Amino acid sequence: MRKSIPENWWNQLKLPVISAPMFLVSGPELVKNCCLNGVIGSFPAPNARPIEVLDQWMGQLNEELEAARTAEPERKIAPWAMNMVVHSTYSRLQDELELIKKHKPQLVITSLGSPKHVVEIVHEYGGLVFSDVSDLKFARKAAETGVDGLILVSSGAGGHAGQINSFAFVDMVRTFWDGIIVLAGAISTGKGILAAQAAGADLAYMGTRFIVATESMAHDEYREMLVNSTQEDIILTDAFSGVRANMLIPSIVKAGLDPAQLVKKEKVDFDTMHGKSEAKAWRDIWSAGHGVGAIDKIESTADIIKRLEVEYQEALEKVNQSSAKLRRLKVK
Ligand SMILES: Cc1cc2nc3c(=O)[nH]c(=O)nc-3n(C[C@H](O)[C@H](O)[C@H](O)COP(=O)(O)O)c2cc1C
Repeated sequence: MRKSIPENWWNQLKLPVISAPMFLVSGPELVKNCCLNGVIGSFPAPNARPIEVLDQWMGQLNEELEAARTAEPERKIAPWAMNMVVHSTYSRLQDELELIKKHKPQLVITSLGSPKHVVEIVHEYGGLVFSDVSDLKFARKAAETGVDGLILVSSGAGGHAGQINSFAFVDMVRTFWDGIIVLAGAISTGKGILAAQAAGADLAYMGTRFIVATESMAHDEYREMLVNSTQEDIILTDAFSGVRANMLIPSIVKAGLDPAQLVKKEKVDFDTMHGKSEAKAWRDIWSAGHGVGAIDKIESTADIIKRLEVEYQEALEKVNQSSAKLRRLKVK
């Protein structure tokens, strides 16, 4: 039988959603508020600098969420996840692995390298490992390392986007993978979450939707730009990371650059990916996925999740109504 998310997660989730890790955007407040509202919150480890801050964030999340669970045992409180770069050239790799052993997050999300070593550590204490992949070659490779889930980063995603259409990506990966699938890319609404499930995914991975949350670390101007942007304000470019990413055109213009004259950044270094030069690019030039057009308001994480729940239920009812009509017998 196909593997899905653990049974006990259903008691902790209000929606089958992970709020995706975002450089310079996802911090402990966003993660905590997602979890308190029944959505898995995650952050990329490089957001916590220096390493002592990461230790603090992880300890604090465990403590605060445990206290909330004790205070309200009936409340659905989701697990939190940490995202880490696992490329061998990443300088904090060993230190971050030590912190994983210490704080034991229920879910670890790996990017940019083989998750094999992380799998050994996390499985030892009963946690799960999901690996994010943006093409079939990496999906196959990651599938062989013993991970529990694959995160399919499809076209239109915020950050470093893939190039495969989401529906096609799930279908292709399902031909060789019976583990958990998390679908990413331009999912910004409750009906998008339902569509991801209908396509065969277990969970939806939503980044852009949560940038506007008042608890994110994003700049207010970034939030306002998102509210005022549509998909036509997004450009896919390798000018800032050397890897193709979806960026907001108004932020490029604001930084004094001409979006029509961008040139590929040559050097891709997995440490500086999240180091100073990259930070400068991502601090001044902002990313968003094609789902940006569905975002019309700056609001709290709790309100975003409430809206997603309503949209999800409405979409479900619509699908049920159509399906009932399709099943209706023809009466003469
Ligand atoms: C501003 C921004 C920063 C991101 N930073 C990271 C990161 O540091 N690590 C990572 O694995 N993915 C990163 N991503 C990608 C997200 O984790 C996720 O794959 C993506 O946001 C999903 O697509 P969506 O934004 O269309 O929902 C980033 C995305 C955005 C929008």
